[in-house]
Amino acid sequence: MAYTIACSNIKGGTGKTSTVSSLTGIFASQGYRVLAVDCDPQSNLTIGLGINPDNLDKTLVEALVGAGPNNTNGGLPLSEVIIPMAEGFGLVPAHMALQALELQMVSMFSREKVLRRKLEEVKDRYDLIFLDCSPSINMLTINALTAADSVLVPVQANSFYALYGMSQLMNTIRYVQSDPNPDLKVLGVILTMSNNTRIAKEVSGQLKENFGDNLFNSIIRLNTKLAEAPAMGQTISTYAGDSPVAEDYRNLAEEIKVRAKI
Ligand SMILES: Nc1ncnc2c1ncn2[C@@H]1O[C@H](COP(=O)(O)OP(=O)(O)O)[C@@H](O)[C@H]1O
Ligand SMILES: [Mg+2]
Repeated sequence: MAYTIACSNIKGGTGKTSTVSSLTGIFASQGYRVLAVDCDPQSNLTIGLGINPDNLDKTLVEALVGAGPNNTNGGLPLSEVIIPMAEGFGLVPAHMALQALELQMVSMFSREKVLRRKLEEVKDRYDLIFLDCSPSINMLTINALTAADSVLVPVQANSFYALYGMSQLMNTIRYVQSDPNPDLKVLGVILTMSNNTRIAKEVSGQLKENFGDNLFNSIIRLNTKLAEAPAMGQTISTYAGDSPVAEDYRNLAEEIKVRAKI
């Protein structure tokens, strides 16, 4: 049964999508059966893997739509929506229409668990499932946190504003732990886009103070290769497997294996 990891932060541009893409590529290259699910209407993960959502007629939207008491599992079977990628993992693509669906979800039957039920259809076919969340706390994010075993929180080192929003995120995690998903754990906080500036040291210091051992030792360096990879529709593993940032994500993957016992 797959171990499910949601990647979330209320702030945009903290490296959520890059982290999901990089870890998905690395674990897949190591023989893990990995599914990446794009839960963000902005569809950055999908687009960055070389797929134009406008050309798709089956996305996460079609899988989730219509979930209700008489049709508990919603629309299309998830297996019909999964795109097998050349790098050896599966992708559940997103589409901008997820935005409208998110609003409809509010009235769906046990609305926090729609994604969780959907993932259960395919959980025995994967070792790991990554959920890439949007930078807001909406019903889709609550669904991702409800479907997850644990949550990864990337925090941007090169921004003085990086820590703003962390307490709201932690409150949301506690809310989800209090009811729909009591088993949810914080797998860890990741310092991303680190560049050895004074701001990065300040952010890193504050994270250590606030999160202690929950902060991963692996730090993700700022490296343009990671910004280029999506333009080539590849993960960092294939695009620049020998880059420093690929090494950082491989180190992070090792820490994740220990913490998640996978
Ligand atoms: N370690 C890194 N080095 C350089 N650029 C990065 C790094 N991590 C992310 N980026 C770039 O920063 C931007 C935001 O990252 P992204 O992963 O899309 O964040 P989020 O999903 O949290 O909004 C993207 O353009 C991405 O390519
Ligand atoms: Mg993103």
